[in-house]
Amino acid sequence: MLAAVLITAFAGVGYAHTLTAADGKATVYTTCVQETHCALTFDDGPYIFNSDITKILNDTGVTATFFVRDCIYDDAPQETLKKLYKEGHQIGSHTWSHPDLATLNQSQIAAELDKLDLALKRIVGVIPACLRPPYGSYNDDVLTVAGARNKCVVTWNMDSGDSAGKNATEIKAAYEAGKKTPNGTMIALNHETYNETVKALPDIIAILKDWGYQFVNMSTCLGGIPAYTSITDPGKADATWHC
Ligand SMILES: *[C@@H]1O[C@H](CO)[C@@H](O)[C@H](O)[C@H]1NC(C)=O
Ligand SMILES: *[C@@H]1O[C@H](CO)[C@@H](O)[C@H](O)[C@H]1NC(C)=O
Ligand SMILES: *[C@@H]1O[C@H](CO)[C@@H](O)[C@H](O)[C@H]1NC(C)=O
Ligand SMILES: *[C@@H]1O[C@H](CO)[C@@H](O)[C@H](O)[C@H]1NC(C)=O
Ligand SMILES: *[C@@H]1O[C@H](CO)[C@@H](O)[C@H](O)[C@H]1NC(C)=O
Ligand SMILES: *[C@@H]1O[C@H](CO)[C@@H](O)[C@H](O)[C@H]1NC(C)=O
Ligand SMILES: [Zn+2]
Repeated sequence: MLAAVLITAFAGVGYAHTLTAADGKATVYTTCVQETHCALTFDDGPYIFNSDITKILNDTGVTATFFVRDCIYDDAPQETLKKLYKEGHQIGSHTWSHPDLATLNQSQIAAELDKLDLALKRIVGVIPACLRPPYGSYNDDVLTVAGARNKCVVTWNMDSGDSAGKNATEIKAAYEAGKKTPNGTMIALNHETYNETVKALPDIIAILKDWGYQFVNMSTCLGGIPAYTSITDPGKADATWHC
């Protein structure tokens, strides 16, 4: 019931920005639509540093977007995902097994999206509207498959460099070099799998605030598009919940 009401509400809004273009292909976003908006994104979880990250976010009053991946049916990832959702962070798709989607055919791409969507629908009750393709890699087939599922594709315009092995000092320097001011907008790529990211995060938030950024989730960053294409009650685990 709630889901039906929410979806109807989305349909009536008439967003300024669309998930899917007129040709049926997913729209690709690299930055927020409004000046001074910054969307912090964390890829590759759920991982053991998730609670350290959300603690820092909560302490600083920041909400973020987590692009999650892989088999999430174990107890720990299930708990992490429910907690993320409850604490007001946005959940996005980062595929089921993190392949370079541009090397796959359409049915393989579809399976990568659908397996994760099914798991998130079961565990949390949501199907994410935003896809972060692994390595930021996509082609027309990816946009067609994502578009058919009413998803958009989100990359970034600021890479913290954490996945390249940067330490906390270097990560902060990357933000300094990548800052877009005055009145810039930023989608910042981070990964929740690096301890140096956790170490750098309080300073990054302080620096960005100092530069005049407002922290927003992906939904607000993209002009108020829905975060999810479906919201229902979570399911109840059974034998079909496996990788
Ligand atoms: C977030 O921080 C506030 C205080 O600012 C606290 O009341 C609240 O319980 C915290 N929430 C979580 C989920 O940690
Ligand atoms: C995104 O942020 C907006 C503005 O704070 C909020 O209304 C909305 O519920 C958030 N969406 C999600 C999925 O957390
Ligand atoms: C996609 O690739 C897989 C693996 O190579 C193959 O089994 C399948 O037949 C291909 N599907 C299509 C529609 O080309
Ligand atoms: C971070 O990396 C830089 C460059 O490799 C190095 O000079 C610096 O000592 C490192 N900082 C820490 C705290 O390890
Ligand atoms: C930045 O935004 C402020 C407030 O909207 C505006 O007054 C100022 O002219 C803008 N600066 C630039 C360089 O766009
Ligand atoms: C992060 O982990 C690496 C490798 O395990 C270690 O060398 C480094 O000291 C850790 N950094 C922090 C801030 O814990
Ligand atoms: Zn990734």
